[in-house]
Amino acid sequence: MKQEVRPVPLSGPYLDAREEELVLEVVRSGRLSLGPMVDRFEEAFAEQVGAPYAAAVSSGTAGLHLLSVSAGIGAGDEVITTPYSFAATANCFVYEGGVPVFADIDPRTLNLDPAAVEAAVTPRTKAIVAVDIYGYPCELDELRAIAARHGLALIADSCEAVGALYKGAPLGSHGPSAVFAFYPNKQMTTGEGGMVTTHSEEEWRLLRSLRNQGRGDEGGWLEHVRLGFNYRLSDVAAAIGLGQVEKLDDLLALRAQVAARYGELLAGLDGIELPCADDADHVRSWFVYVVKLPDNETRERAIVHLERERIGYNRYLPSIHLQPYMRERYGFREGMCPVSEDASARTLALPFFTGLEREGQERVAEALAAVLS
Ligand SMILES: Cc1ncc(COP(=O)(O)O)c(C=O)c1O
Repeated sequence: MKQEVRPVPLSGPYLDAREEELVLEVVRSGRLSLGPMVDRFEEAFAEQVGAPYAAAVSSGTAGLHLLSVSAGIGAGDEVITTPYSFAATANCFVYEGGVPVFADIDPRTLNLDPAAVEAAVTPRTKAIVAVDIYGYPCELDELRAIAARHGLALIADSCEAVGALYKGAPLGSHGPSAVFAFYPNKQMTTGEGGMVTTHSEEEWRLLRSLRNQGRGDEGGWLEHVRLGFNYRLSDVAAAIGLGQVEKLDDLLALRAQVAARYGELLAGLDGIELPCADDADHVRSWFVYVVKLPDNETRERAIVHLERERIGYNRYLPSIHLQPYMRERYGFREGMCPVSEDASARTLALPFFTGLEREGQERVAEALAAVLS
């Protein structure tokens, strides 16, 4: 009988006995929410990324929404962001009535092009949401300078970039408030969850109130001093997160090894563009492995081969402004952000996770070689 080909999944978490031990500690303590495990997770995370304050939340999206509230984004305010990201990057301020203004990206890094951001500023602009796409740090200092010049808030969507270094220091340590996300495909996970880092004690207190139904520092369980949300992270999730932070350096090193192996295996293929290399100012934290193929037709042919071989993939990432609800609501059309649209047509995420073995990667390389050679 013919042997079935083993599937190679697109992504997967990397957990061990430490997470089990910490989860058990929570279960046995009976403190399943608002317990000490959330504080421990926050403290460990803040230390890891060099931020003075961290607030755990139920998702990256929740964290971005809270920063949109904290920035005072309201109805009709324009917010400049990148089209080449996950939808939550824009949704977070649309919830508050903010209007998305998409600035195009740099074709090499796939991050916001600061010149395009500067050109998009109007008297109605309130904020910039910058993304470190696929774990590669954005041009933070240039974006900060634009924000300072025009009196704008800067929100760092670092959901894909925990552990990345900008100018030698981790994202989260630089000043702008940042959000990290912990869905199971991320470098570290809590199942569902996120973390907001801030350098302002006042903002930290506000975030803790907003995530907890607007309760104040003082006052009782049923006193609400502002309009809040239930964006709390449970202690079970925080326990998994603490175990993951403790080993984050190892996770990142293992992922960098997997990426380096792809670099070797794919180097000889014609027409494939690999993720851009690190430089002195930008050190990527490996979230996904996304390659650029020569054109859309080649990408779709590659996908047929990957499917045949039971290899996971995804069309990371469609441009947000062309999502059906965005077109309908704001009238966005093709041609508005040509660099992003071109990338969206040609980029492809390959299987990538901490424990991915060489054999799986070789099969990916073979499937791509069948199309590219
Ligand atoms: C760039 C970016 N922003 C925001 C999010 C939202 O995070 P979550 O799925 O935890 O809500 C993600 C997660 O996929 C992301 O990649």
